[in-house]
Amino acid sequence: MAKKILVTGGTGYIGSHTVVELQQAGYEVIIVDNLSNSNAEVIEGITHISGIRPKFEKLDCTDLPAMKALFKRHQGIEGIIHFAASKAVGESVHKPLMYYRNNIVSLLNLLQLMPENKVKGIVFSSSCTVYGEPDNNPIDENAPIKPATSPYGNTKQINEEIILDYVHSGADIKSIILRYFNPIGSHPSAEIGELPLGVPQNLVPYITQTGIGIRKELSVFGDDYNTPDGSCIRDFINVVDLAKAHVIAIARMLEDKSDEKVEIFNLGTGNGVSVLELIKVFEKVSGKPLNYKIVGRREGDIEQIWANPDHANNVLGWKAVETIEDTMASAWKWQQRLRQKGIM
Ligand code: UD1
Repeated sequence: MAKKILVTGGTGYIGSHTVVELQQAGYEVIIVDNLSNSNAEVIEGITHISGIRPKFEKLDCTDLPAMKALFKRHQGIEGIIHFAASKAVGESVHKPLMYYRNNIVSLLNLLQLMPENKVKGIVFSSSCTVYGEPDNNPIDENAPIKPATSPYGNTKQINEEIILDYVHSGADIKSIILRYFNPIGSHPSAEIGELPLGVPQNLVPYITQTGIGIRKELSVFGDDYNTPDGSCIRDFINVVDLAKAHVIAIARMLEDKSDEKVEIFNLGTGNGVSVLELIKVFEKVSGKPLNYKIVGRREGDIEQIWANPDHANNVLGWKAVETIEDTMASAWKWQQRLRQKGIM
């Protein structure tokens, strides 16, 4: 019988790509999502790709009675992948309580309900934001955790600590914490992708929306950083590569491939790419020049960060394989598909 996995935030950007990979690997998926930053149409995209309609529960993970009832309705859930969270850095500065409530209470509820429902493991979506501005690059998992620069970043740090404390208290669960670098791109089918509501805060949706004419021009936040071309450097990781790491992590916990109760992995490519370089890649794969201007730095931005992914490569046997060109081409194809559908 297929193993049942609960995916919180499964209609979101990384969540939806992970649902597809889980289904293709033979897992049965139950999505829980409150649709606060996504829409139910995503289920259709998932179903088109995999041929399997995931079960869907429109619920908020902060609602403990509702989550208790969900575990009653779906007996035998073996693992959880927890994506559901608020994720806009700037918004978190203005609405800290909302961020602490959404991001922390959700995890507390899931952890509480795991042992009583015999759920063996939880994969947690963390971020390279926990490293702050690194002293050295590439950065590995042993690098120091720096004080968070936003409530959003703080929720990731606190959630990691909550998991560690709970497991160390003797709770009968396992966890794998995945620290993502900068996920970009979309499924090659263009059936699912990143769908930001309103004006995008992140670079790639802003680039593709500018490319298609929704935005007039991209503002590049700073060209006076201490980097070769003066713009910030990131480790842009293909979202499907990222999704696949979750399937490996779930199998690792459910099949007891490790004796460790909590493991932490960086998920990145190991290559730093600058903002200006990424714009050039977009221009190459789209065949059109991008309208952009250099403006001042954005407050709170990190100058440069990229991963040392050796631990994930060697221990999980996972590696990012997609090229940056193919990844940007997938983001562009998705943007064009949204236009065709009349969504954007
Ligand atoms: C941020 C968060 C990260 C979070 C991620 C996804 C921090 C330090 N990082 O990553 O934790 O997981 O968002 O929400 O809080 N840029 C432009 N013009 C734009 C948009 C972005 O030049 O219009 C530049 C930024 O200055 C930055 C780079 O592009 O140098 C990437 O920005 P973005 O996509 O927002 O991701 P991060 O800030 O790296």
